[in-house]
Amino acid sequence: MFAAIFFFILLKNLYYTFLLTISGRDEKTFIHSRRSRTCLGNPNMGFVKVALVKDFEPGKMIGVETEGKEIVIANIDGNYFAIGNRCTHMSCMLSDGSLKGQNVTCSCHGSVFDLKTGNVVKGPAKKTEQVFQVEVEGGQILINV
Ligand code: FES
Repeated sequence: MFAAIFFFILLKNLYYTFLLTISGRDEKTFIHSRRSRTCLGNPNMGFVKVALVKDFEPGKMIGVETEGKEIVIANIDGNYFAIGNRCTHMSCMLSDGSLKGQNVTCSCHGSVFDLKTGNVVKGPAKKTEQVFQVEVEGGQILINV
């Protein structure tokens, strides 16, 4: 039994190492999906690499976790915007919601946030989301955490 668990953990670590190698992301950056949280990087304070431009089509958004902050990043017509990923209503992940124009709709109760300002466009959420500065450098997307 221990051998099977050890083998599973070894395979999982090899898989993450492979992802890090092909993605170029920092070690402590996490990519969120509906089912999993995948470790992808090691950030320094300030700007942290979180994604590659080539993997990030217009109209797409992803959730990442870095420096203990959960952030949703969206590509809106080739420009990147980032706000807190936990809905200020009841903490659902905005990256699991839907993106329309510059607005993200929370999948839990339908709050809508403006990705450029972090403002609530429609409740029930009342509190704005934190906005993060985004830069693109050398084909990589960086966020100021
Ligand atoms: S948790 Fe997002 S609207 Fe309720």
